[in-house]
Amino acid sequence: MPFSQIANSIGASVTLQLNAKAAQMRAAGEPVIHLGGGEPKSKAPQSSIDAGVEMLKSGEIRYTPASGTAALKDAIISYTALHYGRQVERANVIASAGAKQAIMVALMALVDPGDEVVYPVPYWVSYPEMVRLAGGNPVAVHPADGSFQPTVEEMIEAIGPRTKVVLLNSPNNPSGAVFDREFLAGLIEYCQQEDVFVLMDDIYHRLVFDGRHPVHCYDCTDYSVDDAKLLVLNGVSKQYAMTGFRIGWAVGPRDLIKTMSNIQSHQSGNPCSLSQHAAVAAIEGDQDSVSQLGRQLEQNRDELVRLLREIPGLEVDIPQGTFYCFCNFRAFDEDSTRLAAYLLDKVQVVTVPGIEFGMDGYLRLSYCGALEDVREGVRRIKWILDENGSPELAVGDTVFTR
Ligand SMILES: Cc1ncc(COP(=O)(O)O)c(C=O)c1O
Repeated sequence: MPFSQIANSIGASVTLQLNAKAAQMRAAGEPVIHLGGGEPKSKAPQSSIDAGVEMLKSGEIRYTPASGTAALKDAIISYTALHYGRQVERANVIASAGAKQAIMVALMALVDPGDEVVYPVPYWVSYPEMVRLAGGNPVAVHPADGSFQPTVEEMIEAIGPRTKVVLLNSPNNPSGAVFDREFLAGLIEYCQQEDVFVLMDDIYHRLVFDGRHPVHCYDCTDYSVDDAKLLVLNGVSKQYAMTGFRIGWAVGPRDLIKTMSNIQSHQSGNPCSLSQHAAVAAIEGDQDSVSQLGRQLEQNRDELVRLLREIPGLEVDIPQGTFYCFCNFRAFDEDSTRLAAYLLDKVQVVTVPGIEFGMDGYLRLSYCGALEDVREGVRRIKWILDENGSPELAVGDTVFTR
């Protein structure tokens, strides 16, 4: 069957494939440790559950405006005032089925066939495929110093006449790095002059550690929300542990938001009305669960980094946010796909190969699960990578052999 060129250019999601494989192994009773996950294991806030149940019981689950309800837009307006210090209007806001859809409709609104979208390495696995789906060409910028943040000059060098969008994610999946003010301000100023839109994927912006307050894009420009070439992407998935609700949003200039809303209206229509209602309750309700999640993740991070640093040869940068740690395993294997497969096969630990994020030789380890899983996962990795270790490792009734 001759599929379209775009379809043929899109690969399957490796992370989802890994999730499926881990679920399969678990179902077969195998003691899999999943360090490949991308969602907090805590419960959605009680306020969101109550609101959802109440609406469901009413039996009135209808279409809403394609770009979201007035109530959700108002909650996002308050959120933007609180976290970004900017007063926006409903016309500056669109709610979508997850930040993922908001990014996708933004790319469809901005990118013509052959246009380029520039982003730093390492990047979220979906970016290149989303750019291709929008008909564009992905351009990944590798920091020459091997760090997780390129220089402004490196980014500018990659921006050419066909560049329409620069896509940034901080705190970053997979590295956990938080981009600094100099980088953001320099890049935002350049893009403003050159008419290039900066898409700020802030989905992890409240999941930061060590008392950090990440710099946000509106701190880096004096332009109004309508005049700045900025679009901020956010959502309830990570901070409120509401991944399955599928509610994300974008805040930006009203002409861009209107165009995105037109696209979304024909693509999917409104994000699920029940989920929108639940998201309002989460955003406007008690925020304790967010700080609690942050504390738990920080504790997991500390333990993970401490244990990983006991493995000779492994290079570990401390993540400043998110729930991922991106480690340099090149001393063991330059081929991250092979190494991830080896760890799954030998000790049943799921990790995500760095090549999927643009950096081979690295693995992404998630610490969004239980602390015991973090400890057990690293115990197994340490054992299998130690050539001088014992020939067997017992895990309950299972015995792993080299
Ligand atoms: C960097 C980044 N952006 C966006 C998303 C998508 O979030 P959502 O669940 O709101 O679609 C993810 C999810 O893993 C992510 O890691």
